[in-house]
Amino acid sequence: MYYQYFADTNPLQTIENKDFIPKIPLGGRGYPATQKPDTTIVETMPNEAPHNQDEVFMQRALKLASETIGLASPNPQVGCVLTTHPPDGSTPKIIGEGAHLYDHRDHAEIVALKQAAARGFSTKGATAYVTLEPCSHHGRTAPCANALIAAGIARCVIATQDPNPLVSGQGIQKLRAANIEVTLGVLEQQARDVNDAFAHFIQHRTPFVTLKAALSVDGKLAPPPASRYPNQPFWLTGPAARQQVQLLRHASDAVLTGIGTVLADDPQLTDRSGMLDPDRSGMLDPDRSGMQNPARSATEGPAPSGISGPHALPRRRPLLRVILDTQLRIPLTSQLVSSAASASGPYSDLLILCGSLASPAKAAALGALGVEVDQVPDHAGRLSLPAVLAALAERDILSLLLECGSHLNGSFLRQNLADKAVLLYAETELGDHAIPFAQGFPSPYLFERFLHRITRTTYGPDACITGYLHDPWPPSKHPATAQQIG
Ligand SMILES: NC(=O)c1ccc[n+]([C@@H]2O[C@H](COP(=O)([O-])OP(=O)(O)OC[C@H]3O[C@@H](n4cnc5c(N)ncnc54)[C@H](OP(=O)(O)O)[C@@H]3O)[C@@H](O)[C@H]2O)c1
Repeated sequence: MYYQYFADTNPLQTIENKDFIPKIPLGGRGYPATQKPDTTIVETMPNEAPHNQDEVFMQRALKLASETIGLASPNPQVGCVLTTHPPDGSTPKIIGEGAHLYDHRDHAEIVALKQAAARGFSTKGATAYVTLEPCSHHGRTAPCANALIAAGIARCVIATQDPNPLVSGQGIQKLRAANIEVTLGVLEQQARDVNDAFAHFIQHRTPFVTLKAALSVDGKLAPPPASRYPNQPFWLTGPAARQQVQLLRHASDAVLTGIGTVLADDPQLTDRSGMLDPDRSGMLDPDRSGMQNPARSATEGPAPSGISGPHALPRRRPLLRVILDTQLRIPLTSQLVSSAASASGPYSDLLILCGSLASPAKAAALGALGVEVDQVPDHAGRLSLPAVLAALAERDILSLLLECGSHLNGSFLRQNLADKAVLLYAETELGDHAIPFAQGFPSPYLFERFLHRITRTTYGPDACITGYLHDPWPPSKHPATAQQIG
Protein backbone atom coordinates (compact mmCIF):
# COMPACT_ATOMS: atom_id res chain seq x y z
CA MET A 1 0.00 0.00 0.00
CA TYR A 2 1.50 3.31 -1.02
CA TYR A 3 1.15 7.01 -0.85
CA GLN A 4 -0.71 8.60 -3.72
CA TYR A 5 1.67 11.01 -5.32
CA PHE A 6 -0.58 12.32 -8.04
CA ALA A 7 -3.72 13.09 -6.14
CA ASP A 8 -5.90 15.36 -8.27
CA THR A 9 -6.62 18.19 -5.91
CA ASN A 10 -4.73 17.98 -2.63
CA PRO A 11 -1.01 17.38 -3.10
CA LEU A 12 -0.79 15.84 0.35
CA GLN A 13 -3.78 13.56 0.04
CA THR A 14 -3.12 9.97 1.06
CA ILE A 15 -5.09 6.90 0.13
CA GLU A 16 -3.10 4.08 1.65
CA ASN A 17 -0.06 3.38 3.80
CA LYS A 18 2.96 5.45 2.98
CA ASP A 19 6.44 4.12 3.50
CA PHE A 20 8.60 7.19 3.85
CA ILE A 21 10.64 5.48 6.55
CA PRO A 22 13.65 4.22 4.63
CA LYS A 23 14.09 0.52 4.30
CA ILE A 24 17.59 0.95 2.86
CA PRO A 25 20.47 1.45 5.31
CA LEU A 26 23.01 4.24 4.75
CA GLY A 27 24.40 8.31 6.94
CA GLY A 28 24.88 10.80 9.61
CA ARG A 29 26.02 14.33 9.75
CA GLY A 30 29.46 13.54 11.14
CA TYR A 31 30.92 16.99 10.83
CA PRO A 32 34.64 17.08 10.23
CA ALA A 33 36.09 19.05 13.15
CA THR A 34 38.77 20.56 10.96
CA GLN A 35 36.44 21.98 8.34
CA LYS A 36 37.24 25.63 7.85
CA PRO A 37 34.56 28.20 8.61
CA ASP A 38 32.83 29.77 5.65
CA THR A 39 30.77 32.86 5.10
CA THR A 40 27.22 32.71 6.33
CA ILE A 41 24.59 33.01 3.68
CA VAL A 42 22.03 35.66 4.42
CA GLU A 43 18.83 35.64 2.47
CA THR A 44 15.74 37.73 2.78
CA MET A 45 12.37 36.14 2.18
CA PRO A 46 10.42 38.33 -0.20
CA ASN A 47 7.40 40.02 1.36
CA GLU A 48 5.09 38.04 -0.88
CA ALA A 49 6.22 34.45 -1.32
CA PRO A 50 6.38 33.71 -5.06
CA HIS A 51 5.63 30.03 -4.50
CA ASN A 52 2.40 29.82 -2.56
CA GLN A 53 2.71 26.06 -2.03
CA ASP A 54 6.00 26.39 -0.20
CA GLU A 55 4.57 26.42 3.31
CA VAL A 56 2.26 23.49 2.56
CA PHE A 57 5.09 21.26 1.39
CA MET A 58 7.48 22.47 4.09
CA GLN A 59 4.82 21.69 6.69
CA ARG A 60 4.75 18.16 5.31
CA ALA A 61 8.55 17.91 5.50
CA LEU A 62 8.43 19.21 9.10
CA LYS A 63 5.87 16.61 10.02
CA LEU A 64 8.16 13.89 8.68
CA ALA A 65 11.05 15.36 10.69
CA SER A 66 9.05 15.61 13.91
CA GLU A 67 8.01 11.97 13.66
CA THR A 68 11.62 10.85 14.11
CA ILE A 69 11.79 11.81 17.79
CA GLY A 70 14.08 9.34 19.54
CA LEU A 71 15.21 7.89 16.21
CA ALA A 72 17.64 10.41 14.72
CA SER A 73 19.84 11.43 17.70
CA PRO A 74 22.79 12.04 17.68
CA ASN A 75 21.93 13.36 14.23
CA PRO A 76 19.35 16.07 13.57
CA GLN A 77 15.70 15.29 12.78
CA VAL A 78 15.24 16.15 9.10
CA GLY A 79 12.42 15.71 6.62
CA CYS A 80 12.40 16.17 2.85
CA VAL A 81 9.63 16.33 0.24
CA LEU A 82 10.21 16.30 -3.53
CA THR A 83 7.63 17.79 -5.86
CA THR A 84 7.19 18.26 -9.60
CA HIS A 85 5.00 20.58 -11.61
CA PRO A 86 2.68 18.59 -13.89
CA PRO A 87 3.01 19.73 -17.56
CA ASP A 88 -0.58 21.06 -17.52
CA GLY A 89 0.46 23.65 -14.96
CA SER A 90 -1.78 22.29 -12.20
CA THR A 91 -0.82 22.02 -8.53
CA PRO A 92 2.66 20.53 -7.86
CA LYS A 93 2.60 16.90 -6.75
CA ILE A 94 4.77 14.96 -4.32
CA ILE A 95 6.98 12.38 -6.07
CA GLY A 96 9.07 11.30 -3.09
CA GLU A 97 9.58 12.07 0.58
CA GLY A 98 11.70 10.92 3.46
CA ALA A 99 13.00 11.42 6.95
CA HIS A 100 16.38 10.61 8.45
CA LEU A 101 16.71 7.71 10.86
CA TYR A 102 20.20 7.36 12.32
CA ASP A 103 20.24 3.59 12.08
CA HIS A 104 19.26 3.63 8.40
CA ARG A 105 22.07 6.08 7.54
CA ASP A 106 20.44 7.77 4.54
CA HIS A 107 19.72 11.46 5.03
CA ALA A 108 16.18 12.62 4.32
CA GLU A 109 17.09 13.99 0.87
CA ILE A 110 18.51 10.62 -0.20
CA VAL A 111 15.49 8.74 1.11
CA ALA A 112 13.21 11.02 -0.92
CA LEU A 113 15.34 10.75 -4.07
CA LYS A 114 15.45 6.96 -3.80
CA GLN A 115 11.73 6.81 -3.26
CA ALA A 116 11.07 8.92 -6.37
CA ALA A 117 13.44 6.73 -8.41
CA ALA A 118 11.89 3.50 -7.09
CA ARG A 119 8.51 4.70 -8.27
CA GLY A 120 9.78 5.65 -11.69
CA PHE A 121 9.56 9.43 -11.29
CA SER A 122 12.14 11.69 -12.85
CA THR A 123 13.60 14.26 -10.45
CA LYS A 124 14.78 16.51 -13.28
CA GLY A 125 13.38 19.99 -12.70
CA ALA A 126 11.87 18.95 -9.33
CA THR A 127 11.67 21.08 -6.20
CA ALA A 128 13.12 19.78 -2.93
CA TYR A 129 11.70 20.95 0.41
CA VAL A 130 14.21 20.30 3.19
CA THR A 131 13.82 21.24 6.87
CA LEU A 132 17.59 21.67 7.33
CA GLU A 133 20.23 22.88 4.87
CA PRO A 134 21.52 19.90 2.83
CA CYS A 135 24.97 18.82 3.96
CA SER A 136 27.96 19.59 1.75
CA HIS A 137 30.63 17.33 3.19
CA HIS A 138 31.43 13.64 3.58
CA GLY A 139 30.35 12.23 6.96
CA ARG A 140 28.81 8.76 7.26
CA THR A 141 27.39 9.44 3.77
CA ALA A 142 28.25 11.48 0.70
CA PRO A 143 27.07 15.12 0.60
CA CYS A 144 23.32 15.53 0.07
CA ALA A 145 23.88 18.77 -1.88
CA ASN A 146 25.81 16.75 -4.49
CA ALA A 147 23.01 14.18 -4.68
CA LEU A 148 20.38 16.88 -5.25
CA ILE A 149 22.55 18.45 -7.97
CA ALA A 150 23.10 15.07 -9.63
CA ALA A 151 19.35 14.42 -9.51
CA GLY A 152 18.78 17.55 -11.60
CA ILE A 153 16.47 19.39 -9.22
CA ALA A 154 15.71 22.96 -10.26
CA ARG A 155 14.81 24.46 -6.91
CA CYS A 156 15.55 23.82 -3.24
CA VAL A 157 13.43 25.30 -0.46
CA ILE A 158 15.23 25.18 2.90
CA ALA A 159 13.66 25.96 6.28
CA THR A 160 16.86 26.82 8.11
CA GLN A 161 20.63 26.85 7.71
CA ASP A 162 22.82 24.25 9.36
CA PRO A 163 23.54 25.41 12.96
CA ASN A 164 27.13 24.15 12.77
CA PRO A 165 29.15 27.36 12.33
CA LEU A 166 31.84 25.35 10.54
CA VAL A 167 29.63 24.27 7.63
CA SER A 168 26.62 26.59 7.74
CA GLY A 169 25.87 28.02 4.30
CA GLN A 170 28.16 25.71 2.35
CA GLY A 171 25.36 23.41 1.17
CA ILE A 172 23.44 26.43 -0.07
CA GLN A 173 26.50 27.77 -1.87
CA LYS A 174 27.03 24.44 -3.57
CA LEU A 175 23.43 24.32 -4.79
CA ARG A 176 23.58 27.89 -6.06
CA ALA A 177 26.88 27.27 -7.82
CA ALA A 178 25.04 24.51 -9.74
CA ASN A 179 22.36 27.03 -10.78
CA ILE A 180 19.73 25.63 -8.45
CA GLU A 181 17.32 28.26 -7.18
CA VAL A 182 17.45 28.35 -3.38
CA THR A 183 14.73 29.78 -1.13
CA LEU A 184 15.66 29.96 2.54
CA GLY A 185 13.67 30.56 5.71
CA VAL A 186 10.26 28.96 5.00
CA LEU A 187 8.79 28.02 8.42
CA GLU A 188 12.22 28.56 9.90
CA GLN A 189 11.28 28.80 13.58
CA GLN A 190 9.22 25.59 13.44
CA ALA A 191 12.17 23.82 11.82
CA ARG A 192 14.53 25.12 14.48
CA ASP A 193 12.25 24.01 17.32
CA VAL A 194 12.53 20.41 16.15
CA ASN A 195 16.32 20.42 16.51
CA ASP A 196 17.12 22.46 19.64
CA ALA A 197 19.30 19.73 21.11
CA PHE A 198 21.25 19.14 17.91
CA ALA A 199 21.80 22.89 17.37
CA HIS A 200 23.09 23.28 20.93
CA PHE A 201 25.30 20.21 20.84
CA ILE A 202 26.91 20.94 17.48
CA GLN A 203 28.01 24.37 18.71
CA HIS A 204 28.95 23.67 22.34
CA ARG A 205 29.56 19.91 22.46
CA THR A 206 27.47 19.62 25.64
CA PRO A 207 23.89 18.35 26.06
CA PHE A 208 20.93 20.72 25.76
CA VAL A 209 19.63 20.78 29.35
CA THR A 210 15.90 21.07 30.15
CA LEU A 211 14.96 21.56 33.80
CA LYS A 212 11.53 20.13 34.56
CA ALA A 213 9.83 20.70 37.91
CA ALA A 214 6.38 19.88 39.26
CA LEU A 215 5.44 22.62 41.70
CA SER A 216 2.74 23.52 44.18
CA VAL A 217 0.91 26.78 43.66
CA ASP A 218 3.15 28.31 46.35
CA GLY A 219 6.23 27.21 44.38
CA LYS A 220 7.40 24.16 46.35
CA LEU A 221 8.71 20.82 45.07
CA ALA A 222 7.52 18.41 47.75
CA PRO A 223 6.09 18.31 51.29
CA PRO A 224 8.56 18.48 54.20
CA PRO A 225 10.31 15.10 54.72
CA ALA A 226 8.77 14.64 58.17
CA SER A 227 5.27 14.62 56.69
CA ARG A 228 6.03 11.98 54.04
CA TYR A 229 6.12 8.22 53.85
CA PRO A 230 9.70 7.17 52.97
CA ASN A 231 10.55 5.74 49.53
CA GLN A 232 7.28 6.78 47.98
CA PRO A 233 6.78 9.33 45.24
CA PHE A 234 4.51 12.27 45.97
CA TRP A 235 2.48 13.27 42.91
CA LEU A 236 1.73 16.95 42.80
CA THR A 237 0.30 17.12 39.30
CA GLY A 238 -2.49 15.14 37.66
CA PRO A 239 -2.36 12.34 35.06
CA ALA A 240 -2.35 14.65 32.01
CA ALA A 241 0.68 16.60 33.24
CA ARG A 242 2.45 13.38 34.22
CA GLN A 243 1.89 12.02 30.71
CA GLN A 244 3.60 15.17 29.38
CA VAL A 245 6.58 14.37 31.59
CA GLN A 246 6.68 10.91 30.04
CA LEU A 247 6.69 12.50 26.59
CA LEU A 248 9.51 14.82 27.69
CA ARG A 249 11.48 11.74 28.70
CA HIS A 250 10.72 10.12 25.38
CA ALA A 251 12.07 13.19 23.58
CA SER A 252 15.30 13.16 25.65
CA ASP A 253 18.45 11.09 25.33
CA ALA A 254 18.95 11.06 29.13
CA VAL A 255 17.20 11.96 32.38
CA LEU A 256 19.14 13.03 35.50
CA THR A 257 18.41 13.28 39.20
CA GLY A 258 20.30 13.34 42.50
CA ILE A 259 20.66 10.86 45.31
CA GLY A 260 18.40 13.07 47.45
CA THR A 261 15.46 12.36 45.16
CA VAL A 262 16.35 8.66 44.89
CA LEU A 263 16.33 8.26 48.69
CA ALA A 264 13.09 10.23 49.10
CA ASP A 265 11.04 8.86 46.18
CA ASP A 266 12.65 5.61 44.99
CA PRO A 267 11.78 6.57 41.38
CA GLN A 268 12.12 4.42 38.24
CA LEU A 269 12.80 7.29 35.79
CA THR A 270 11.85 5.09 32.86
CA ASP A 271 10.26 6.17 29.57
CA ARG A 272 6.62 5.15 30.08
CA SER A 273 5.32 7.37 27.31
CA GLY A 274 3.65 4.41 25.67
CA MET A 275 5.92 4.78 22.63
CA LEU A 276 8.00 1.73 23.37
CA ASP A 277 5.65 -0.94 22.14
CA PRO A 278 7.09 -2.45 18.94
CA ASP A 279 3.50 -2.92 17.74
CA ARG A 280 3.49 0.80 17.15
CA SER A 281 6.05 0.41 14.37
CA GLY A 282 4.68 1.79 11.16
CA MET A 283 2.08 3.85 12.97
CA LEU A 284 3.97 7.03 12.34
CA ASP A 285 1.17 9.20 11.11
CA PRO A 286 -1.29 10.28 13.82
CA ASP A 287 -3.69 11.68 11.21
CA ARG A 288 -4.00 8.27 9.66
CA SER A 289 -3.77 6.16 12.80
CA GLY A 290 -6.92 7.83 14.08
CA MET A 291 -5.33 8.05 17.51
CA GLN A 292 -5.09 11.17 19.59
CA ASN A 293 -2.75 11.90 22.41
CA PRO A 294 -4.97 11.25 25.42
CA ALA A 295 -3.14 13.86 27.43
CA ARG A 296 -3.99 16.81 25.23
CA SER A 297 -7.08 18.62 24.10
CA ALA A 298 -7.51 20.67 20.95
CA THR A 299 -7.35 23.93 22.90
CA GLU A 300 -3.98 23.29 24.50
CA GLY A 301 -0.84 25.09 23.39
CA PRO A 302 2.32 23.49 22.00
CA ALA A 303 3.59 20.55 24.04
CA PRO A 304 6.93 21.14 25.78
CA SER A 305 8.04 17.72 24.58
CA GLY A 306 7.55 18.71 20.94
CA ILE A 307 5.42 15.57 20.55
CA SER A 308 1.85 16.21 19.49
CA GLY A 309 0.64 12.64 19.23
CA PRO A 310 1.66 9.03 19.80
CA HIS A 311 3.30 8.73 16.42
CA ALA A 312 6.88 7.80 17.14
CA LEU A 313 8.49 4.42 16.83
CA PRO A 314 10.13 2.83 19.86
CA ARG A 315 13.20 4.89 20.70
CA ARG A 316 16.50 3.93 19.06
CA ARG A 317 18.56 3.99 22.26
CA PRO A 318 17.25 3.27 25.74
CA LEU A 319 16.66 6.39 27.85
CA LEU A 320 19.87 6.80 29.86
CA ARG A 321 19.03 7.32 33.55
CA VAL A 322 21.76 9.30 35.29
CA ILE A 323 22.13 9.61 39.08
CA LEU A 324 24.53 11.99 40.84
CA ASP A 325 25.61 10.19 43.98
CA THR A 326 28.97 11.40 45.31
CA GLN A 327 29.38 8.65 47.93
CA LEU A 328 27.35 5.86 46.26
CA ARG A 329 24.61 5.94 48.87
CA ILE A 330 22.05 4.43 46.47
CA PRO A 331 20.43 1.27 47.92
CA LEU A 332 21.08 -1.91 45.95
CA THR A 333 17.38 -2.67 46.37
CA SER A 334 16.19 0.61 44.83
CA GLN A 335 13.86 0.47 41.84
CA LEU A 336 16.55 2.11 39.72
CA VAL A 337 19.15 -0.54 40.46
CA SER A 338 16.65 -3.40 40.23
CA SER A 339 15.54 -2.30 36.77
CA ALA A 340 19.11 -1.80 35.47
CA ALA A 341 19.71 -5.53 35.23
CA SER A 342 16.85 -5.96 32.82
CA ALA A 343 18.01 -3.23 30.45
CA SER A 344 18.43 -4.58 26.95
CA GLY A 345 21.51 -4.05 24.78
CA PRO A 346 25.22 -4.02 25.52
CA TYR A 347 25.14 -0.86 27.64
CA SER A 348 23.45 -0.23 30.96
CA ASP A 349 20.62 2.30 30.93
CA LEU A 350 21.58 3.34 34.48
CA LEU A 351 24.68 5.47 34.95
CA ILE A 352 25.69 6.50 38.46
CA LEU A 353 28.25 9.27 38.64
CA CYS A 354 30.21 9.37 41.88
CA GLY A 355 33.18 11.15 43.45
CA SER A 356 36.76 10.00 44.01
CA LEU A 357 36.10 8.82 47.58
CA ALA A 358 33.19 6.50 46.74
CA SER A 359 33.55 2.93 47.97
CA PRO A 360 35.09 0.63 45.32
CA ALA A 361 33.25 -2.32 46.91
CA LYS A 362 29.88 -0.58 46.44
CA ALA A 363 30.82 0.34 42.88
CA ALA A 364 31.64 -3.33 42.20
CA ALA A 365 28.34 -4.47 43.73
CA LEU A 366 26.45 -2.02 41.53
CA GLY A 367 28.42 -3.13 38.49
CA ALA A 368 27.48 -6.73 39.18
CA LEU A 369 23.83 -5.66 39.07
CA GLY A 370 24.18 -4.13 35.61
CA VAL A 371 24.78 -0.51 36.68
CA GLU A 372 27.50 1.59 35.04
CA VAL A 373 29.43 3.52 37.68
CA ASP A 374 31.77 6.29 36.65
CA GLN A 375 33.83 8.81 38.62
CA VAL A 376 33.76 12.52 37.85
CA PRO A 377 35.80 15.23 39.56
CA ASP A 378 34.24 16.60 42.73
CA HIS A 379 34.57 20.04 44.21
CA ALA A 380 33.81 20.90 47.85
CA GLY A 381 32.16 17.49 48.29
CA ARG A 382 29.86 17.87 45.28
CA LEU A 383 30.25 16.53 41.77
CA SER A 384 31.42 19.00 39.15
CA LEU A 385 28.39 19.63 36.92
CA PRO A 386 30.44 20.72 33.87
CA ALA A 387 32.31 17.41 34.23
CA VAL A 388 28.96 15.58 34.43
CA LEU A 389 27.81 17.24 31.19
CA ALA A 390 31.13 16.43 29.52
CA ALA A 391 30.79 12.77 30.54
CA LEU A 392 27.32 12.67 28.99
CA ALA A 393 28.50 14.40 25.81
CA GLU A 394 31.11 11.67 25.43
CA ARG A 395 28.22 9.21 25.38
CA ASP A 396 26.50 11.15 22.54
CA ILE A 397 23.80 12.49 24.87
CA LEU A 398 22.41 15.55 23.05
CA SER A 399 19.36 16.22 25.21
CA LEU A 400 19.26 15.94 29.01
CA LEU A 401 16.11 16.23 31.14
CA LEU A 402 16.64 17.27 34.77
CA GLU A 403 14.12 15.82 37.23
CA CYS A 404 15.95 16.86 40.37
CA GLY A 405 15.29 18.04 43.86
CA SER A 406 16.06 21.40 45.35
CA HIS A 407 19.83 20.98 45.70
CA LEU A 408 20.56 20.04 42.11
CA ASN A 409 18.02 22.47 40.65
CA GLY A 410 19.87 25.20 42.56
CA SER A 411 23.30 23.98 41.46
CA PHE A 412 22.38 23.78 37.76
CA LEU A 413 20.70 27.20 37.81
CA ARG A 414 23.41 28.97 39.82
CA GLN A 415 26.02 27.68 37.37
CA ASN A 416 23.86 28.76 34.42
CA LEU A 417 23.86 25.21 33.03
CA ALA A 418 20.15 24.84 32.24
CA ASP A 419 18.97 25.93 28.79
CA LYS A 420 15.21 25.50 29.03
CA ALA A 421 12.67 25.11 31.83
CA VAL A 422 9.32 23.33 31.98
CA LEU A 423 7.41 24.29 35.13
CA LEU A 424 4.21 22.39 35.90
CA TYR A 425 2.06 24.03 38.59
CA ALA A 426 -0.57 22.08 40.55
CA GLU A 427 -3.35 23.79 42.50
CA THR A 428 -2.11 22.25 45.78
CA GLU A 429 -0.48 24.44 48.44
CA LEU A 430 2.39 22.88 50.42
CA GLY A 431 3.26 25.59 52.93
CA ASP A 432 6.38 27.31 54.22
CA HIS A 433 8.18 24.19 55.47
CA ALA A 434 7.98 22.33 52.16
CA ILE A 435 11.01 21.67 49.89
CA PRO A 436 11.82 24.80 47.85
CA PHE A 437 12.01 24.79 44.03
CA ALA A 438 15.76 25.42 43.94
CA GLN A 439 18.27 26.20 46.65
CA GLY A 440 19.26 29.84 46.38
CA PHE A 441 16.16 30.81 44.39
CA PRO A 442 13.44 32.24 46.58
CA SER A 443 10.60 31.39 44.22
CA PRO A 444 9.99 29.86 40.78
CA TYR A 445 7.85 32.88 39.98
CA LEU A 446 10.91 35.14 40.29
CA PHE A 447 12.95 32.62 38.29
CA GLU A 448 10.38 32.83 35.47
CA ARG A 449 11.59 36.38 34.81
CA PHE A 450 14.77 34.92 33.33
CA LEU A 451 12.86 32.90 30.74
CA HIS A 452 12.22 34.03 27.19
CA ARG A 453 10.01 32.66 24.38
CA ILE A 454 7.56 31.62 27.08
CA THR A 455 4.67 29.26 26.25
CA ARG A 456 1.76 28.81 28.62
CA THR A 457 -0.59 25.86 28.49
CA THR A 458 -2.68 23.64 30.76
CA TYR A 459 -2.93 19.92 31.34
CA GLY A 460 -6.20 19.24 33.06
CA PRO A 461 -6.13 21.34 36.26
CA ASP A 462 -2.36 21.95 36.05
CA ALA A 463 -0.66 24.97 34.46
CA CYS A 464 2.54 24.60 32.44
CA ILE A 465 5.07 27.32 31.69
CA THR A 466 7.85 26.56 29.24
CA GLY A 467 10.65 28.98 28.43
CA TYR A 468 14.24 29.25 27.32
CA LEU A 469 17.22 30.44 29.34
CA HIS A 470 19.54 30.19 26.33
CA ASP A 471 18.61 30.08 22.67
CA PRO A 472 20.15 26.87 21.31
CA TRP A 473 20.35 28.26 17.77
CA PRO A 474 22.72 30.88 16.46
CA PRO A 475 20.92 34.19 15.78
CA SER A 476 18.89 34.01 12.62
CA LYS A 477 20.05 36.23 9.78
CA HIS A 478 16.60 35.96 8.39
CA PRO A 479 14.50 39.07 9.12
CA ALA A 480 11.16 37.21 9.07
CA THR A 481 12.38 34.68 11.62
CA ALA A 482 14.03 37.33 13.74
CA GLN A 483 10.62 38.93 14.11
CA GLN A 484 9.05 35.62 15.13
CA ILE A 485 11.70 35.01 17.77
CA GLY A 486 11.58 38.47 19.25
N1 LIG B 1 8.36 18.14 42.29
C1 LIG B 1 9.39 17.75 41.55
O1 LIG B 1 9.42 18.00 40.33
C2 LIG B 1 10.51 16.98 42.20
C3 LIG B 1 11.50 16.38 41.39
C4 LIG B 1 12.54 15.71 42.02
C5 LIG B 1 12.60 15.67 43.39
N2 LIG B 1 11.64 16.26 44.13
C6 LIG B 1 11.72 16.23 45.61
O2 LIG B 1 12.93 16.83 46.01
C7 LIG B 1 13.33 16.27 47.25
C8 LIG B 1 14.79 15.88 47.20
O3 LIG B 1 15.55 17.06 47.06
P1 LIG B 1 17.14 17.01 47.16
O4 LIG B 1 17.60 18.40 46.98
O5 LIG B 1 17.53 16.28 48.38
O6 LIG B 1 17.50 16.06 45.93
P2 LIG B 1 18.42 16.18 44.64
O7 LIG B 1 18.67 17.60 44.27
O8 LIG B 1 17.78 15.34 43.60
O9 LIG B 1 19.76 15.50 45.09
C9 LIG B 1 20.66 16.24 45.85
C10 LIG B 1 21.90 15.43 46.13
O10 LIG B 1 22.65 15.24 44.94
C11 LIG B 1 24.02 15.09 45.29
N3 LIG B 1 24.85 15.96 44.47
C12 LIG B 1 25.96 15.56 43.80
N4 LIG B 1 26.53 16.58 43.17
C13 LIG B 1 25.78 17.66 43.44
C14 LIG B 1 25.90 19.02 43.07
N5 LIG B 1 26.87 19.47 42.27
N6 LIG B 1 24.98 19.89 43.55
C15 LIG B 1 23.98 19.47 44.34
N7 LIG B 1 23.82 18.20 44.71
C16 LIG B 1 24.72 17.29 44.28
C17 LIG B 1 24.15 15.48 46.76
O11 LIG B 1 24.22 14.31 47.53
P3 LIG B 1 25.68 13.63 47.74
O12 LIG B 1 26.57 14.72 48.24
O13 LIG B 1 25.46 12.54 48.67
O14 LIG B 1 26.09 13.17 46.40
C18 LIG B 1 22.81 16.15 47.06
O15 LIG B 1 22.41 16.01 48.39
C19 LIG B 1 12.42 15.09 47.51
O16 LIG B 1 11.45 15.44 48.46
C20 LIG B 1 11.76 14.84 46.18
O17 LIG B 1 10.46 14.32 46.33
C21 LIG B 1 10.60 16.91 43.57
